[in-house]
Amino acid sequence: MKTGLIGAMREEIQLLEHDIENLEIHEHGVRKFYEGTIGGNEVVMCLSGWGKVAAASTATSLINLFNVDQLVFIGMAGSLNLNLSIGDIVVADQLVQHDVDLSKLDGFGTLKPPFHKKFRFQVRAGAQRRALEAVKQFVYNLHDKKYPGINPEYLPKIHIGGIGTGDQFIASHKGKERIHEHFPQLLCTEMEGGAIAQVAEDYGVPCSVIRIISDNADEEAHNSFERFLFEDISKISVEIARLMFV
Ligand code: ADE
Repeated sequence: MKTGLIGAMREEIQLLEHDIENLEIHEHGVRKFYEGTIGGNEVVMCLSGWGKVAAASTATSLINLFNVDQLVFIGMAGSLNLNLSIGDIVVADQLVQHDVDLSKLDGFGTLKPPFHKKFRFQVRAGAQRRALEAVKQFVYNLHDKKYPGINPEYLPKIHIGGIGTGDQFIASHKGKERIHEHFPQLLCTEMEGGAIAQVAEDYGVPCSVIRIISDNADEEAHNSFERFLFEDISKISVEIARLMFV
């Protein structure tokens, strides 16, 4: 199975470049695609950049130019739920584009929306299981003190649930409430997953999204996000990504 691995920021995936054997680097537009194998499994890794357009463009290239069989996204998210703590890991069972608002079209009436009516995408059971197995193994290894580079006190909880996507960095209680009002089921919010899920569904390719909580999407979010980005995320995301290829 050939995997298209995407991260929105360099820190989230870059370290994995060293694991790629038979590495070939291809440039398309502003992006570089790192193609090769990890543990004998084919991979094409790419940095998407922030937001839904960047994510959709990357996913489309991975499918059409590199013929990947599955898409995997790893990165950070802001928590929308009091049961989640910073560092916890969320495996998506559905992805919702929370910033799409078609409510004024009033149930569409006689209109026939092309392609998608609801901007909510279910993660296929197989893709969800593969992501969950990697995350479980990562946490198991943490308990076993297998990662000297990661703080031994870091023992995250794993959550399976809905992830919200929008072209906004949510950094206020008001912003969180706005999402919660329409989508109370969502565990966390980010800026790419729902776009990748839409492209994956368009082309009939499975996709999984794994998010590590970097902040509480509140007034302190930017500080917490930056701290997590520079101190922790690379080590965590690269170890989880490696486990997707065993
Ligand atoms: N990614 C990480 N934290 C986020 C937040 N608070 N809002 C949107 N995307 C995020």
